[in-house]
Amino acid sequence: MFDEVAQHYDRTNSVLSMGNSLVWRMATVRAVAPRAGERILDIAAGTGTSSAALAKSGAEVVAADFSPGMIEVGRKKHPNIAFIEADAMALPFTASEFDAVTISFGLRNIEDPKKALAEMYRVLKPGGRLVICEFSKPPRALFRAGYAAYMRYIMPTIVDAASSNPEAYAYLADSIQAWPDQVTLSQWIRGAGFTRVAYRNLTLGVVALHRGHKPARTARPSRPKAAAKEAPSTQNGSAVAEP
Ligand SMILES: C[S@@+](CC[C@H](N)C(=O)[O-])C[C@H]1O[C@@H](n2cnc3c(N)ncnc32)[C@H](O)[C@@H]1O
Repeated sequence: MFDEVAQHYDRTNSVLSMGNSLVWRMATVRAVAPRAGERILDIAAGTGTSSAALAKSGAEVVAADFSPGMIEVGRKKHPNIAFIEADAMALPFTASEFDAVTISFGLRNIEDPKKALAEMYRVLKPGGRLVICEFSKPPRALFRAGYAAYMRYIMPTIVDAASSNPEAYAYLADSIQAWPDQVTLSQWIRGAGFTRVAYRNLTLGVVALHRGHKPARTARPSRPKAAAKEAPSTQNGSAVAEP
């Protein structure tokens, strides 16, 4: 499906989001806070629009996606970004490779999102940060009703005019409806092992920006000599992971 929408993907997004996609991307980059010299993994990167925004900081951005069609368009648009064909549920990276991992409008599309969260945790360095930008549930009932009406009646008309594959955008509306709310996704993120998990709503909750951290390794506190003598030695390393 993503192969088929690749050509007009970015244009259709801008139109459907009524220009808000730019605001969501800027908020995501600010949350990731990429720094020159860092290695950042953008999962489900699609045509690389999310990756390009991150790469402006001078960080090394790896754009991973499993759709060859999206990657082909991405490589043409952003020749300086390293694209890699990869499944988010089985990432081809060793543990603790990245300073930050991010995913924009991708987690909802992954067959087993909890498996993908576990993979994100694995490839992050201890102390590394996770940022997820995803459609969510507007908490205000009146706005939520208006948004539902937009998706049901207005979006299909726009899609017919702007996209090469209207069925794919019917899937978009269905998948947004079926996606869990902010609190549930936060629980999933915690369940994968992340700490300091938080979110904030963008555009009244149409989108939510979730964050988490892989616990940093902390130096083991030194114990008084006498106590150290008495206690059985279980570990000889000086660095242990936080719970
Ligand atoms: C809506 S696009 C988002 C693209 C980009 N992150 C953006 O913000 O424009 C979703 C992407 O998720 C990718 N995707 C879905 N399931 C995936 C998986 N299991 N592994 C890797 N990519 C996946 C699709 O190929 C598609 O490019």
